[in-house]
Amino acid sequence: MEIDKLVRENIRNLKPYTSARDSYLSGILLDANENGIGSVIEIEDIELNRYPDPAQNDLRKVVGNYIGIPAKNLFFGVGSDEVIDLLVRIFCNPGKDNVITAEPTYGMYQVACEINDVEVKNVTLTEDFQLDTEKLLANTDAQTKIIFVCSPNNPTGNLLRKKDIINLAEKFDGILAVDEAYIDFTELGSVIKEIEKYNNLVVLRTFSKAWGLAGVRCGYCAASESIIKYFMKIKAPYNLNKLTRQAVINSVNNYSKKDLYVAEIIKERKRLKNELEKYAAIQKVFDSDSNFLLFRVPNAKNIQLKLAEKGVIIRDRSSQINLENCLRVTIGNKEENDIFLKELNEILK
Ligand SMILES: Cc1ncc(COP(=O)(O)O)c(C=O)c1O
Repeated sequence: MEIDKLVRENIRNLKPYTSARDSYLSGILLDANENGIGSVIEIEDIELNRYPDPAQNDLRKVVGNYIGIPAKNLFFGVGSDEVIDLLVRIFCNPGKDNVITAEPTYGMYQVACEINDVEVKNVTLTEDFQLDTEKLLANTDAQTKIIFVCSPNNPTGNLLRKKDIINLAEKFDGILAVDEAYIDFTELGSVIKEIEKYNNLVVLRTFSKAWGLAGVRCGYCAASESIIKYFMKIKAPYNLNKLTRQAVINSVNNYSKKDLYVAEIIKERKRLKNELEKYAAIQKVFDSDSNFLLFRVPNAKNIQLKLAEKGVIIRDRSSQINLENCLRVTIGNKEENDIFLKELNEILK
């Protein structure tokens, strides 16, 4: 696919800002109006008084090695929320183009489009929350630039079928964005390696979930070089700070701890699902490939509020299409899960 043609004309023609650290990263640095004396605090031996490398070479190399994707195919953002926003800005002309989402799903695709004055067409997932590829394709038109899908999907929790995603990437004449924020909680099903084959595929990932770095704000995407070059072109010059980078690099070097957390969360997910299924009042506990469970009750709002009164905060997802009376609970640590079960028992018994 000719990616350049899909890109907004003004972005294609944009002359990007050249930052000082694009040109030089070392030497007697008197080029960026930094404070050469030092910074007022010291954190490890990070040179906080100097701007970070705008090319993100450190992160691209370390994360690329870990996931087996070449550095040139990676772009890092301030959470995957920034990546979502930039993706919309690269491809969608405000007031003219449109985007399709597969609902019910993560709300930021819609919000990012609305902020950028881009129309969103919501196409519902099938009854078992899988992609209806025919319906998705039937809803595209000449102005449809991006289809957003999420696998495992938030808030339904399930992985999307790989063959449906590939089918969509093959048949859609635009960008297919696959959000894999929760991919670490399932063994199979990532499509990240398919970026080699499909130059219109963008796979989003985040360090906010399995890696336990939500407070650090780092997400990324893997895509063809022809797409990555536009992310690099429009991003704020130094979008990722040095503290975030160091935290991410240290974490990747310590990935076995993430694996332990994931194993623990999956174990707790099974336990919680078993426990929830014991209640006659709970109509359904959906299968989950992620770090949360979605379940259906007779009066979701009431239960959510009663739990909140006890200090246990879960999310009422009832307002989303096909999720009437559905609650979403994140798998916490064992103690948190026990308290959730105890308080829920008090309400349901
Ligand atoms: C599907 C999905 N994508 C992206 C994000 C945002 O991730 P980040 O913290 O990297 O911005 C979330 C957060 O809940 C999410 O559920």
